[in-house]
Amino acid sequence: MKILSIETSCDETSAAVVEKQNGEEFVKVLSNITATSLNLHAETGGIIPEFAAREQAKAIIPVITKALLGQNNTKLDTNDYLNARNILTTEIDAIAITHGPGLIGSLLVGVETAKTLSYSFKKPIIPVNHLLAHLFANYIKSENYSEIKYPFVGLIVSGGHTDLLLFKKINEYKWLGGTRDDAAGEAIDKIGRLLGLSYPAGPEMEKRALLVTTPTLKFKSPLINSNDFDFSFSGLKAEASRFIEKNKLNETLINQICFATQKAIFDVLIQKTARALNMYNTNTILLGGGVSANQTLKQMFEKSFEDKKIKIHIPEKKYSTDNGAMIGAWATTNYNPLSWNNITAMPELYFI
Ligand code: KG4
Ligand code: ZN
Repeated sequence: MKILSIETSCDETSAAVVEKQNGEEFVKVLSNITATSLNLHAETGGIIPEFAAREQAKAIIPVITKALLGQNNTKLDTNDYLNARNILTTEIDAIAITHGPGLIGSLLVGVETAKTLSYSFKKPIIPVNHLLAHLFANYIKSENYSEIKYPFVGLIVSGGHTDLLLFKKINEYKWLGGTRDDAAGEAIDKIGRLLGLSYPAGPEMEKRALLVTTPTLKFKSPLINSNDFDFSFSGLKAEASRFIEKNKLNETLINQICFATQKAIFDVLIQKTARALNMYNTNTILLGGGVSANQTLKQMFEKSFEDKKIKIHIPEKKYSTDNGAMIGAWATTNYNPLSWNNITAMPELYFI
């Protein structure tokens, strides 16, 4: 089965064609094309929803066309569009689309485009929860993928969400806890902004933290010892902000702040995940979301659980941040099409 999968929940317009063979657990990515309006938002240090939606509208048809063609041509001509239409008609079995959560304008562009294609090309359509798709990016074939065993604990760490879930089996899951205020990625981006890092701050913060050989600064890990699965990162931002106001910044100090921010966030992510594994007696972890692209986080997770026979699955870096392939990974593992006229953009969609 081949699925055209589309993601437009925020500032990335991404489309992929994924393939799943009968009886196989993992999906192969045949193409994954992403256009981003990040440069536009870098200037403002954050996403302006109307700008993001406008860019989605510009990018969606070229991105889908390139994904169908399987090539990232810089310029598309009439023949390319005709070939893409032919491929959609003859080779694609279904369409998968992110229907939430996300920015309403951005979601609408993707959802209405996918519905139109579903209707006019008579293809089944599968609505996909963006957050679950982040975890199911682990079902994409990579160099060293390995069987995922249920039950598992899922940790979603993105720009808008920090959530812990327990999956008993496919589509049978329980939300254990999440952030009470800022998400992990949001805290990184906000502290990064105070430090003058490029937006989004995750990648630069990671690079700068790696330059620290002797840490001299420590921030508190919020809620690390609380008896629940909740997170809270707004206090960390306040602590970092007070420190930044009181001290004269230089490169060394900025790097130290990056290190301390990452450590405070990553320690609590690991502690709460360990708590969930213990409480529910599981030994498999799935990570997903933009922050899971961080190689220091990956190493810290691996180190923390190395003696405990815990298996940690983390998507390849390019499938950690928003992408179309993860939407297809969820749709193929949970193939559940709806009629096109029953699908709507749901900005507040959470876990159902
Ligand atoms: O999942 P994602 O691409 O979009 C949302 O669904 O929110 O996540 C974006 C977030 C941003 O906050 C960004 O700073 C963070 O992921 N991020 C990282 C890294 N790359 C992206 N955080 C830490 N380290 C990274 N290497
Ligand atoms: Zn995301």
